[in-house]
Amino acid sequence: MNLSDQLIDWYQVHKRDLPWRNISDPYLIWISEIILQQTRVNQGLDYYLRFIERFPNVETLAAAEEDEVLKYWQGLGYYSRARNLHQAAQQIIRDFGGFFPTTYTEVLQLKGVGAYTAAAVCSFAYNLPYAVVDGNVYRVLSRLFAIETPIDSHFGKKEFDSLAQQLIENSVPSLHNQAIMEFGALQCVPVSPNCSDCPLQVYCKAYELKIVEQLPVKSKKTSVKQRFFNYLVIQYNQQIFLQKRTADDIWKNLYEFPLIETDHLLTLEELLENNSFCHIFYGIEQVKILNISKPVHHLLTHRRITAQFITLQIVEKNESLKQFIEISNTEIGNFAVSRLVEMYLKKEI
Ligand code: ADE
Repeated sequence: MNLSDQLIDWYQVHKRDLPWRNISDPYLIWISEIILQQTRVNQGLDYYLRFIERFPNVETLAAAEEDEVLKYWQGLGYYSRARNLHQAAQQIIRDFGGFFPTTYTEVLQLKGVGAYTAAAVCSFAYNLPYAVVDGNVYRVLSRLFAIETPIDSHFGKKEFDSLAQQLIENSVPSLHNQAIMEFGALQCVPVSPNCSDCPLQVYCKAYELKIVEQLPVKSKKTSVKQRFFNYLVIQYNQQIFLQKRTADDIWKNLYEFPLIETDHLLTLEELLENNSFCHIFYGIEQVKILNISKPVHHLLTHRRITAQFITLQIVEKNESLKQFIEISNTEIGNFAVSRLVEMYLKKEI
């Protein structure tokens, strides 16, 4: 049995029963893939079901107002995905006579569709032999073949694309692509994979070389990790909100303002579209942004934190805010806070 057959055998036994599997409607598959791009399966599932109930086909999506499409996306984040979906549906009506395109090149022309999504849709819906290469596939391939080329380099991308494509050639594309992604999601996981229980262990070069957890390699050095903290200073009457850092991370058990950590400091526009932000303030009519501080750089031994403090005012509360500790403005001095928060409180920032 070749590698692809092994993956497919594993998949048939272990796959999760998900509603976008065992269907061949390209529209539904496309919707599911766009939702799953930046979203975990668990979170995406409800959104997918609600979305396709309201917009069961290209016509209903194309005919909808963008506002309503965004409403169905509310809380999922990366709203450009929803706007692109909507525009692509109109593109299908306009340029493809209302029929979902059937070739890779045409699918790739749809707004918001890149190589990954085009390969996913074409393989799952039409069984065309285009290999998907997502984070799961990078991990599985880098380990099976002990490839140390950084996955975020130009050469790495080419190498992995070509290897992924070779593997799919003599296989059933729809099954192969689902199988390798699912294998990465469930078995060949990023941290502490259960290699002793892995059916591909005998084929795995990284296992043989004992470098499984070092793979895949990324070229961006992480010796001093840069982190971005967006703190929310939420004012409600004379009260503010805090949380305790309980995770095994810097500042464990200290208190801080509600935090949104991101991969760059959020602009006001991004903040308003941010998943966590929308969740924290879900259902609150008026969230008034009073101020956004200048970026503050804060150095720790292995971390460089860039933070901003966003002062907001609300006049009503919701369920979500109950996750925080509500205190009077004057009590904050009683709580242990990081130096960064302390400097902010002392107006040293
Ligand atoms: N992530 C991206 N595409 C997926 C799919 N089709 N099934 C499960 N997880 C996914």
